[in-house]
This record gives sequence, structure tokens and C-alpha cells, in this order.
Amino acid sequence: MLRNCQLIQSVTKRTRLTQFAAAAYSTTPLPPSKKTPPFVAKLTTQRKLESEDFSRFGWKSAAAFIASSGILYAYFEYEKAKIAKFKAEAAQKEQGVGKPQIGGPFSLVNTEGVPVSDADFRGKFMLLYFGYTFCPDVCPEELDKMAKVVDNLKNLRKDQTIVPIFISCDPKRDSIENIKEYLKDFHPDFIGMTGTHAQIKRAAKAYRLYFSAPPLALDDDDSDYLVDHSIFFYLVDPDGKYIAHFGKQETSDSVTVKILDFLKLKGM
Ligand code: NI
Repeated sequence: MLRNCQLIQSVTKRTRLTQFAAAAYSTTPLPPSKKTPPFVAKLTTQRKLESEDFSRFGWKSAAAFIASSGILYAYFEYEKAKIAKFKAEAAQKEQGVGKPQIGGPFSLVNTEGVPVSDADFRGKFMLLYFGYTFCPDVCPEELDKMAKVVDNLKNLRKDQTIVPIFISCDPKRDSIENIKEYLKDFHPDFIGMTGTHAQIKRAAKAYRLYFSAPPLALDDDDSDYLVDHSIFFYLVDPDGKYIAHFGKQETSDSVTVKILDFLKLKGM
């Protein structure tokens, strides 16, 4: 029993010694150098001062810096978003997104009986009107107005590329001879067009223009009827793109001014 105790004691002692030695070895600092060189001492002092400075003012200025960069960041993000929004809106306007698409191809027949399409007018401005020669008052007024606009533009822009076009939306009664004679009263430049009911319907649809030839009028001999139609004329650019349309309330002068403004805006 005693022997056992002694053994345990001695083992414990030895272990403790070893532990002590190991600890001593690992933590014993290196012997200090003879003397710290002055520049090192100076540096150390400076660092110590700086770190004190930092602890005194550092957090405040860091906080201020973070706060101000936060504000700046938010501001730049805001500006960036504003510019992006502006650009997107400009692009949308340019593409006409959000606005109903107006205009498009048509294929009809002119008063010489020759097939014509919108493509034949590339390089020219078209002033397009849909009407019918039997129209009692509205069409004559509008065609007169268009004729004046054409003269105004020719004089003011010295531009001979403006072509007034009349598309009949009453193919049953408007023969090509009728149309030709009728347009002579308005302007020598007028080009008259007609086509099958389906062709005219397609052209009108492209321009979002409504017209009604009463169904009876298509088959019947009765030729005393009115065609209800929207009253607009359209300005189409030399690339075949719709620029604007003008309603009944406009005068030849107001249309001229608006067209000149549109063309100026477009750099044309
Ligand atoms: Ni009319």
C-alpha cells in the first residue's frame, strides 16, 4: 500500500516536472537584445500614439466616413436609377412602345390602274388621307386643308418630296376615273388610290382608321349611302414610318406648324 502510494507520488512529481519544463521552454522569452535602436523606439512610440489617436478619434471619423459614403452611395444609386429610367423612357418613346403602332404596309392601285405600295414612296413624305368622292362635306374640306399644307411645306421647306395621297374607302362607287377627276379640284400632286374592299380594309387597319361601307352597299345596286369614316390625315416619313396624324379640328396653318416642328425635332 505504502509502496503504491510512493510510486504514484513519484509519477505525479515526474509528470509535473515534465510539464513545468515544457511550459518553461515554450514560454521562455528570448533574451532581450542589448539595446533597442533609437529609430525602433521612436517608431514604437509613434505607433503607440497613433493607436491612441485612433482609439480616441478613429471610431468617430470611421463612423462619419461610413455614414457619408453611405449617403454618397445612396445618392449615386439614386442618380444612376434616374438616368436609367430616363434612358429607358427615351428608348420607349423612340420605339413607340406603349403607344399604339400606327402605319404599315399597303398595297393598292393608283388612278392609272397600276399597283402601288407604301414601298414606292420611300424617300418621300406621304400625307395620307382615307375618304370617298361622294362624301358631302367633310372629305372636300379635309382635302382642301391637305392641299394647303402641301403648298405651305413646299414653300417653307423648299421640299418637293411631300406627296398627298387619297385612299378611297368606297371601292364600290369610286372608280379610278372618278377619283382622278375628283382630286384635280384639290391639288395637282394628289395621288389617288383604291383597291379591293379587303386591300383598303388592311391599309386602314394599319393606320387604325375606321370606315364603314354599309354591308348592303357591297352587293346592292343602291348607291345612295354614306360611308362613315374617321377623319385624319397622316404624315409618314421617307423611311415609311408614321410621324403624326391630324384631326378635323386642325387648320392648314396649325398642321403646317406642327409638321415643321416634328421634322425639326427629328432633324429632318
Ligand atoms: Ni368624308
